[in-house]
Amino acid sequence: MAFPKTVELVEVGPRDGLQNEPQSLPAAVKVELIERLAEAGCPVVEAGAFVSPKWVPQMADTSEVLANLKRRTGVRYPVLVPNEKGLERALAADVREIAVFAAASETFSQRNINCSIAESLARFAPVAERAKDAGLPLRGYVSCVLGCPYEGVVPLAKVTEVSLALRQLGCDEVSLGDTIGVGTPRRAAEMLSAVAAQVPVEHLAVHFHDTYGQALANILACLELGVGTVDAAVAGLGGCPYAKGASGNVASEDVVYMLDGLGIESGIDLAKLAEAGNFICEALGRRSNSKVALALAGRAA
Ligand code: HMG
Ligand code: MG
Repeated sequence: MAFPKTVELVEVGPRDGLQNEPQSLPAAVKVELIERLAEAGCPVVEAGAFVSPKWVPQMADTSEVLANLKRRTGVRYPVLVPNEKGLERALAADVREIAVFAAASETFSQRNINCSIAESLARFAPVAERAKDAGLPLRGYVSCVLGCPYEGVVPLAKVTEVSLALRQLGCDEVSLGDTIGVGTPRRAAEMLSAVAAQVPVEHLAVHFHDTYGQALANILACLELGVGTVDAAVAGLGGCPYAKGASGNVASEDVVYMLDGLGIESGIDLAKLAEAGNFICEALGRRSNSKVALALAGRAA
């Protein structure tokens, strides 16, 4: 299959990135990051998570972030929701799109959301139903699609089963997460093909972490199979609090540079995106994990 003409980049930095930073940033900094990302042309910016603040204190101020955000027309600002309590908080914050999150590994599911995979799906069912009644688009994440920090290899049949279950619950899109970044292109392609045999690729997104430096190669392999939605985090922020050793998400700047080079339209202005990345790196006092951002900064200096 040929590459898609356009790709929708789902910017997960303000959630998947910041949830894993040791320090909690002020809500105003998060608001500015999200606004800068939208200004750069990101069509979807994951704005936070209505999870337990005891489990992930970095996301405790998601309501405040949303209340202060100037939302741009045409930009979507989904949030993560693990249960009905999270959904209620999301609805109260006038959220218009949510994501539930499951795993393809039992142990990861227990460590991440304190329940089995089957329990998590049962918990998501009323969330999905109420989200649909409220007219909210729904995304479902599957973690550990190419490996689990506790169980190692994860069977493709399990990845497919959980993806299909999320789709059957009403998820418009299923995002396949290589949570610990262990995948390589052939395995990524095999995994995507296996899932796409059950869930049409139009409803699938890919979510790679760059622990072993394979994320861009994995994305390329999945683009060749027709995937049209790619998750990424500006400056390569992030990881996962329950996946020790996982490095950040693939950097959005690196994905956009690759898409530009392939002639694939994303609608994102790379220079503005890199500025958003520089902004958050300064706020965190850390170096960017984006090679493209570092190269652009070097060229500008
Ligand atoms: P639990 O302890 O089993 O839940 O946690 P509980 O229902 O027994 O509640 C315990 C306490 O939390 C109670 O408060 C609840 O009210 C409160 P207490 O009575 O002790 O004061 N609570 C909540 N508070 C606010 N919002 C809520 C909420 N729910 C309960 N929604 C639970 C279960 C799911 C809540 C917890 O495990 C949790 O919040 N986990 C979130 C973990 C998380 O956010 N992980 C990161 C996201 S997943 C990820 O990053 C992977 C992804 O990027 C894809 C990839 O890379 O693969 C998506
Ligand atoms: Mg992730």
